[in-house]
This record gives sequence, structure tokens and C-alpha cells, in this order.
Amino acid sequence: MPSSNTSSNLTPEQARREIDQLSEKLNRYQYEYHVLSRPSVSDREYDRLFDRLLELEKEFPKAKRADSPTQRVGSDLTHELPEVRHTIPVLSLDKAYTAEDLQAWIVKTIKNAGRTLSFVVEEKIDGASIVLYYEEGLLARAVTRGNGLVGNEVTANVKTIRTVPLRLTRPETVAVRGEIFLPRSLFERINADQETPYANPRNLAAGTLRRVKSADVAAIPLDILIYEGYFSSPPQTHVEVLEQLERLGFKLNPDTAVFSEQQEIDRIDKRHPGWTTGGLAEITAYLELARKRRRERDYEIDGLVLKVNELPPRESLGFTGHHPRWAIAFKFEAPEAESVVENIEVQVGRTGRITPVARIKPVLLSGSTISNATLHNQDYVDLLELAIGDRVSVSKRGDVIPAVERVVEKNEQGNTTWKMPDSCPSCGSTLSRQGAHQFCSNQQCPDQIRGRIRFFAGRNQMDIDNLGPETLEVLIERGLVRDVQDLYSFDPQALLDLPGFGEKKVQLIREGLHKSKRRSYRNVLVSLGIPDIGQKAVELLVEGGYRDIDSLLKAAESRDPDTFTRIHGIGEKIARTLIEALNNPEVRRRIEALKNAGLCFSEELPVEPESLPQSFSGQTWCVTGSFENFKPRELAMEEVKRRGGRVTSGVTSKTTHLLAGPGGGSKLEKARELGVQIVAEAEFLKLLVS
Ligand code: IVH
Repeated sequence: MPSSNTSSNLTPEQARREIDQLSEKLNRYQYEYHVLSRPSVSDREYDRLFDRLLELEKEFPKAKRADSPTQRVGSDLTHELPEVRHTIPVLSLDKAYTAEDLQAWIVKTIKNAGRTLSFVVEEKIDGASIVLYYEEGLLARAVTRGNGLVGNEVTANVKTIRTVPLRLTRPETVAVRGEIFLPRSLFERINADQETPYANPRNLAAGTLRRVKSADVAAIPLDILIYEGYFSSPPQTHVEVLEQLERLGFKLNPDTAVFSEQQEIDRIDKRHPGWTTGGLAEITAYLELARKRRRERDYEIDGLVLKVNELPPRESLGFTGHHPRWAIAFKFEAPEAESVVENIEVQVGRTGRITPVARIKPVLLSGSTISNATLHNQDYVDLLELAIGDRVSVSKRGDVIPAVERVVEKNEQGNTTWKMPDSCPSCGSTLSRQGAHQFCSNQQCPDQIRGRIRFFAGRNQMDIDNLGPETLEVLIERGLVRDVQDLYSFDPQALLDLPGFGEKKVQLIREGLHKSKRRSYRNVLVSLGIPDIGQKAVELLVEGGYRDIDSLLKAAESRDPDTFTRIHGIGEKIARTLIEALNNPEVRRRIEALKNAGLCFSEELPVEPESLPQSFSGQTWCVTGSFENFKPRELAMEEVKRRGGRVTSGVTSKTTHLLAGPGGGSKLEKARELGVQIVAEAEFLKLLVS
């Protein structure tokens, strides 16, 4: 038994012989296991031979074969996905949505062919379309569909799919088309671990196929079914093409149906006992049956494909630029909504993240008109192989954000897959990639500043009343506000010169700004808009002991992520982002300016030297109920004290004012009895600024 040798005892010639034997044996075992589901050796024996082959290939790399079964585990080297030209026309399919349309198509096709025809019906698997090119029996290239003329080469990745033969049973030069898919049963489990989860198994399969490390692809159990073969000397029928493909070692869909004349049916029944057969009149009934059982499949099917069986009439029926006239897809459901991508624009977010957005021809989808759809990032555009002018299907994910699901028809202008610009559309800076996204790293980028200001003033952050997006836009355009901190230093009086801004509005803006200064330390921290530092992270930081900005800044200065990761729930990534942001001079200046403006940068209320007018002196206040701007309500009483007032915990004869919010009970009654002045929150706020 050669495998009892240690490899170093072997001459190169002996090693080559053993590698050849092992490769052939293991390829056969893989085929038996994955394609035929009929293994002939134990897993243990298989693993033993596999390890031996790995060992030999490592020591004698020159002897490694092009069809080596060890390629199934992929590699950690990164590779590109170069664009390559297809040598066969990679067409799409015409569609029918009703049995009547399909019947009409059958009649028309028979008439155009001018002879009797038989038809093959296959499932239309909803996966990623692929073309495999074999040269003299070896898998030479695997190419995505792309625009039908040019696709991306994904050979190393496809080689990891166990059901793709690396070598055929004969040295045939042939191109085949098939669908790569991820079994439904595995989708949920695998998707849970993805950085950006995918909407459906098809997108996960397509995304996996485009990974830059084939070892990552090997970890996902993709599968394939082959449905078309392009031979240099083709047989007479599609059924024979399928038979040849099967003999060459390809995995075909066992659920195939043929509708033909009796003689042909008898022949097929004998050869393919698992197939469905019948006369032409039975097609419609079969479609109904197949539609009903689609849920039983462990892969998604979005329809059936009806194909003319005879190849010579296929030739004479010919093609349009888009689809062959000898096949049609019978789709199960009308698509989400179809429209054309008129343009693709990029948006710059407040953190500099660049998001491509498809501008589509307005289309109605579940009650609203859609004209924009997010494309997430370049990877998503690549996996859709989306170009401007393409006809696409759009959905509303979770019923809110419209998303482009897939390309249903390539554009006719020859536009290729859209590429992200190299520079920021707002400021022209060079973009850089972090994870799946492109970023503009210029903190002074106008769109980023705009996003930052809007976020800061927005609802769940500083919630500045009377400063909505439109007013902010005016402030930014007029140059009154150049960044977040200017919100507290610009002179609202200057707005009076502008149309639409009267005394009253300007006063309201002032009040909104003033009131926002009472937002809590936690709110202020979130409002700074540091990536990943949202409400939850801020809570963890405060509870972890960082109760004011100074302690936080000091901790960041150490540049040691451990100072933050020691807090349960704060990971390495958040720690690093925080350190980077808090050491950024721009961010530091912003914090300093906001602090000077009087924003709250500590959990404990600042004990400032009182410069406020002592407008509450001589008054005694009490508080009851709950408030929007004072949580806890004791914060309101702090304001009273800062303005020279006294506070008591209960209403007594000395109480002059009761601040009352919703939920106030016995104190309110007592105050009424004693004739104490009752003040509501809005009124109280006015008293604070006057
Ligand atoms: S035949 C010229 N057969 O559907 C022949 N396509 O909408 C064209 N598909 O890009 C393809 N299962 O990715 C064919 N049994 C099947 C199929 C199938 C899935 C996909 C294929 C194609 C798309 C067309």
C-alpha cells in the first residue's frame, strides 16, 4: 500500500504515480457521494486518502493535477474576478405568467417550426446563473452570466462546489449552463453569520460565488444543477443532451418532464423511470402539479422552463437579442414590481459612507410609488451585475426600504456593470474601502457636514425644536452654520433678513436651541455621531464608569482598546472606532466648542459658577408628574435652584409654585387647595429663558 510510505521516501516519479491514483480515486468517490448519493467507501477511508494526497501535493507541487480533488477546500489566497468574454451566447428567457399564455406560445412555436415538436419541462431554479467551460475534459473556466457577452471569472470558487466535475468522464470540449444554489434548509443558519445578511438564498449564493477567498466559498455548501450543454457536434434532441451531460458526470435535476408522441415516451420511460412523461395535451395539468409541489423542494424555484426538445427546429426558430424563441419561462407569481434603472447615484452619509442608489422609472408597488432603491454597496451591485438601463425587479424589504432584487433584462445599450466613482461626489476626495463599504475620509466634506448637522439636531439626538431639515438647509446654505458647533454660536437675528423668517419663528428657534442644552450627557454623546456609538454603546460606557467626557477623552488618549473592551458588550471594533474618533483633532474641537456652549458633558449636573439671572429668587417650587425635558424631574428643580429659587419635596403653605406634568396626583390637589400657582412644562421652559 503506497500510502504507508512517508512521502519523502518517494522519487518524483513514484510520487506522481501515487498522486494520479489518489486523485482519480478521490474524484470518483466525490462523484459517488455528492452526485449519485451512493458512497462506496467510509468517510474515514476517504479522509485518510485525502490527507495523504494533501501531503504528497505539498511535497511535490509540480505533480498536483489540474483536476485535483483537494481544490474543493479552496484557498486563502485572494483572487480577482476578471471579466471574460463568453464564447456561447448567454441568453435569458421569455416569460409567461398564465397557463393560457403558455398554451398560446406552444401553438405559435409549433406553427413557426412547421412540424410536430416535443417539449421538455424543467424547474426554473432561483439561484446564480453560471457557465462552465471544459477543455478536453478539464474544467477550464467558470464564468457568471454578466451581461450575456461578458461575465466575471469565478473558477477557483466554483471548483469548491463538490457537485461540479473538475474532470469529465471523457476528454470533451464543451460549455454547459447551470444554476448554483444554496439549499433552503441551510440558508437561515448560514445567513445568521454573515456580516451583511442576505434577503434570500439566491443573493447569498451569488454573493458567496463572488468572494475573493475560495476557502470562504468552500465553507458554504453550494450546489449546482446543469440544464444546457453546448457540444461541438450536438445530438438531435435536448433529452439526448441531458443524457450526454449525465454520462459526463454532471448533476442534473431529477425532476424533468417530457411531453411527446407515444413512441418517444415509451423510450424515455424505459431510460428515465424517474421522469414525468405525457402527451402535449397534458402539459397544462403538469404545470399545475409542479407549481403545487414547489414548496417541497429544498431549493427555491421561481417557475418552470418549457423547451423545445428537438435541436434542429431550435436552430430554425432562432433568437431575439434577449431570448431564444424555442424556450419560455412559466413564472409562478407576478414579480414584485419591474422598472428600469435610469441612473445610479451615490450618496455620502454623515460618517462618510458612500451608498449607491438606483434612480428608477417611477413604479407602483404595494400602494406607493417607488423611484429610488438602495443598492447598499459595490459588492451588491456586482452580485446583481447591474448596469444603468437594466430592467430590474424591486421589492420593499421589511415593507419599508425599496431594494433592487435582481436584473430581469439587460440593457440594450451595452452598458456594463456600474462602477463606483474613485472620488467623493461631494468633495472630490479619494475614496477608501473599509469592510464592504467605500468611505470619504474628509471630515470637511460638505455632504458629511450636512449629514452630521441633521443627525445632531434630529429627533432621537439633540431633538432641537424648530430646526427641521429645511431650516437647517437655509442655515447651511447661508453659511451661518458650517458645522455642528455653530448651531450654538450663530446669531439667529441674522435670519430675520430672510424670507419666511419672522420674529416669532426666530424666537422659537432660540428656544429650541436653549432647550436642547438640557439634553442629557448620554444624548449629547450619541449626537456626536461617532460611528457605532449609539444609545446602547453610550449606556454601556456610562455604566462602565465613563460618566463624563473628560474621563472618556483621557481613556481614549491611552489608545489601548482594552480600556474599553473590559466593559462587557464593548467589542474590539467599537473600541477602536471610539479611540480614533476621540483622538481626532476635529472631533476634539467640536466637543470643546459644544462644552463651552453649555451642553451637558457629564452624568452629574455641572456646578457652574452662577451667571444666570436670579429670576426665581424669593420663590419656592415643588414638582409633580413627569416631563419630556427633565428626566428625572429633579433636573427641573436644579434649574430653579440655579436661578435663585428654593425647592421643597412636598406642597406646603410656603410653596409658591408647583411644576406639574402628566401623572401628578395628591400634590396637585393640595396646591389647588392652597392656591399655589400651577405651572406646566411649556410655560416653565419660557420662564427659564426669560
Ligand atoms: S434555460 C437559452 N433552464 O433562468 C437558455 N434556465 O431567466 C436559457 N434558469 O439565466 C436558460 N433554471 O439562470 C434554463 N432549467 C433551466 C433554468 C434556467 C434556471 C435561469 C437561468 C437563466 C434564467 C433566465
